[in-house]
Amino acid sequence: MDDETGQAHVDGGDSLAKIEGLRTDFADEAGEVRNLAELEELRSRYVGRKRGQLTAIFDSMGTLPPEARGPVGRAANHARQEITRQLGEIKASLNKDIRNEVPPLDVTLPGRSKKAGSLHPITLALQEIVGVFTRMGYTVVGGPEVEHDYYNFEALNIPRDHPARDSQDTLYLDNNWLLRTHTSPVQIRTMEGQEPPLAIIVPGRVYRRDTPDATHTPSFVQCEGLLVDRDITMADLRGTLDHFVKALFGPQTQTRLRPGYFPFTEPSAEMDANAGNGWIEMLGCGMVHPAVFEKIGYDPDEWQGFAFGMGVDRIAAMRYGISDIRTLYENDARFLRQFAG
Ligand code: DAH
Repeated sequence: MDDETGQAHVDGGDSLAKIEGLRTDFADEAGEVRNLAELEELRSRYVGRKRGQLTAIFDSMGTLPPEARGPVGRAANHARQEITRQLGEIKASLNKDIRNEVPPLDVTLPGRSKKAGSLHPITLALQEIVGVFTRMGYTVVGGPEVEHDYYNFEALNIPRDHPARDSQDTLYLDNNWLLRTHTSPVQIRTMEGQEPPLAIIVPGRVYRRDTPDATHTPSFVQCEGLLVDRDITMADLRGTLDHFVKALFGPQTQTRLRPGYFPFTEPSAEMDANAGNGWIEMLGCGMVHPAVFEKIGYDPDEWQGFAFGMGVDRIAAMRYGISDIRTLYENDARFLRQFAG
């Protein structure tokens, strides 16, 4: 229909077919457009002033027979409206994509660190202590912090006039109820409810009327142990506690027993440990007093036992090099963070 001179010798039918072809070609190509540059290229090829194919049809209207100009003009106008509308839609949607684009990732920026919490040093020490004994077969038990005089003192062979019962030390709630001053009452509660043999470990909070200083706080944490079986001797106590101390402070740690006094054990002792920096008192211990067994109805001729009790704060202080145990209860995050990880 075209010749090399650019003079079109077309009739109305050719032009209408060509317009129809342009519309379908445009629709196909419009689906492939990925960016604004491609869109502009497409626009100029179809409706551009200089090289638009639809523009060329308008330009050639003059060569058509007069009766064809009406229908071809209408068809060309429709096609241009339609193409212009589609170009507008594609442009809007491309611009929207650009706005939603994620900003480029700068991999050289420092990462955002997540702050993890940490276990309290007393919790850490307790986990270690309790772990050593549970691996030896001990069972963890607990007891009430508000305790009856009978369990805290009487059943533990602590007579009415014993200095430990002085109101200087004990926080009484009334004549009979008090805040337990040690975890030893759990020995009595456990033996009351079960027949020997038994081996228990008792972590727990205790209370005393103390003025806080570097080594005392009015509330602190203890860990109690009790083993009852046949043919138990001081050698079993010594071997068990020696293993415990070495598990906590290293196999080179030395231990020694010194005579001590507790109303509920006979004989009683204190165990010291030396991990290289001198002897430090670790815990109180002894063979369960026959008077205690009689109180709860165990036959002391058939059963023997050993018991021990330790201040977990002291052990945490030794274990982690803390010089003032009050810091364990102040909950200063800067102090506690040192135990993270
Ligand atoms: N209850 C004692 C205290 O608070 C510690 C203690 C010593 C517990 C000797 C025991 C033990 O079981 O046998 O000082």
